[in-house]
Amino acid sequence: MTLIRVQNLMSNELAKRVFLSRPPEPPHEFLLSDPTNSIFIGITKIFESPFTWTFSNLTNPHLAVVGITGAGKSFFVKTFLIRASYIWNTNAIIIDWAGEYKAWVKQSGGTVVSLAKGDYLNIMDLSGMRPLDRAKQIINSFEILTDISQYPEQRRLTMEAVEQSYVNMGFTLAGIPDPHKEAPTLKNVISLLEEKLQEGTYAYPAELENAIYRLRQFAREGEDYFARKSTLDLGKLVSSGLVALDLSGLPDESFRALAALFILQSLKEKMRMEGWSATKGLKAIIVLDEAWKVASDERSDAVMIVREGRKYQFGLIVASQNPTDINEAIFSNVGTTIMLRIKFEKFMNYLQGSLNFSDFMRREISKFGVGQAAIDMSFQTSVQFPEVFLIERVVGEIPLDVYTISVGDILNQDELERADIQKEYYFEKIDLRSKLIESNIGLEQIEGVFKRLDDRNRQIDIRGFVEVFMEMKVSKENTIQFLRSMGLQDMVITRVFTFVGA
Ligand SMILES: Nc1ncnc2c1ncn2[C@@H]1O[C@H](COP(=O)(O)OP(=O)(O)O)[C@@H](O)[C@H]1O
Ligand SMILES: [Mg+2]
Repeated sequence: MTLIRVQNLMSNELAKRVFLSRPPEPPHEFLLSDPTNSIFIGITKIFESPFTWTFSNLTNPHLAVVGITGAGKSFFVKTFLIRASYIWNTNAIIIDWAGEYKAWVKQSGGTVVSLAKGDYLNIMDLSGMRPLDRAKQIINSFEILTDISQYPEQRRLTMEAVEQSYVNMGFTLAGIPDPHKEAPTLKNVISLLEEKLQEGTYAYPAELENAIYRLRQFAREGEDYFARKSTLDLGKLVSSGLVALDLSGLPDESFRALAALFILQSLKEKMRMEGWSATKGLKAIIVLDEAWKVASDERSDAVMIVREGRKYQFGLIVASQNPTDINEAIFSNVGTTIMLRIKFEKFMNYLQGSLNFSDFMRREISKFGVGQAAIDMSFQTSVQFPEVFLIERVVGEIPLDVYTISVGDILNQDELERADIQKEYYFEKIDLRSKLIESNIGLEQIEGVFKRLDDRNRQIDIRGFVEVFMEMKVSKENTIQFLRSMGLQDMVITRVFTFVGA
């Protein structure tokens, strides 16, 4: 008898009754705002009230999104960005750690910028900042990413060389920079340290050598993505609609983190200079998905931006499958936390400790299916109701089925450029199907092709793709016809067939 009661507690009806004295959801006026000035997220679980998000009554417009892989974090982010763009014309920059947003951004008419694939960022660019402040930020990034803080003398030498390199380019350290002057690069900084070493007068050459070595890892030939003149204008990108900055091609995590930190710093500066304007909505949203080092370190700009609250007219979304990768200061300061399915007890403990929700809520979160969520909001005024509530499901835009076909494996960068072909091709399911039909491929064969593509997460290289065609007994003639319809030249098609041995 008692057991049954405990189980029933989970049902909506009983939950309503149990909470009659203490309402389990914020009242309507806190959940539902003017639909032309807020973002619809979903329907609340207990009172079935529509929930629309706005930051007007929240402490700030920033969000944290957590949940295990597959729980629906990226789905939430995409839905949120699309609606913010409809409602407020909000621009978005996704710092795309694993390249997982690329296909969707292309599909949605946005811009994909791939660092390490021909695009560079000079981390010494000033974008309006005083050289002294930028120098501090650069050292701050190295403190987060390297062991430099353990070596005060190396830190001092590096700082001095960074500052000197600005002076050598004609800048005044504490002055507003002349935008026409060119910023130095990390290579200039390294040269200064090397000159000092060669002079032979400095008492601790080993310190110099180590300082040089540390910087060189970011300036090696072929890996000097942040040590060259920038090819990108971050200021422009933040007002260019939907943009994914793909970091997946960078050599390792420290490169990705350096890029992410630099991008955050630059965008923050730009927003600071523009100031908070009275227009409604958010000018921009910056997304950090699975950027663990950047979200976890106390000294990171992600933490600073969230701490600084409503100072900028942009929102930061920090998403992670591992809540302990998100600094506690982010949870305790963000205006909104979206909790999707959480599995591990230690993550749940961390969240419950940071956000202070009930054990009832804890049990609900652990039972979530895809897209179900608990939401925590921090209101500007003190409120008499629990700040965490449940929504039935994040109601998304109709999911797009995007298929990615890469040709990068059979052609090198040089060949790609010479033949002017992309490394990856993206197709919406409907388009891919019609191309297959136009290439006279049978309906059964088409179903088989999609089945195999879906098995591989809708990503395949061109070689594997042609192998699937062969397996489905598509004729060589029709295969060629299809590959041509993709826009591939005969040279490339021949190459594919050589690889699959057909
Ligand atoms: N609220 C939702 N409604 C419908 N489908 C969803 C929802 N959330 C996620 N999905 C689907 O579930 C899959 C995993 O979601 P995703 O956002 O990639 O998870 P995560 O980023 O947390 O790993 C995707 O195919 C996505 O389209
Ligand atoms: Mg994801």
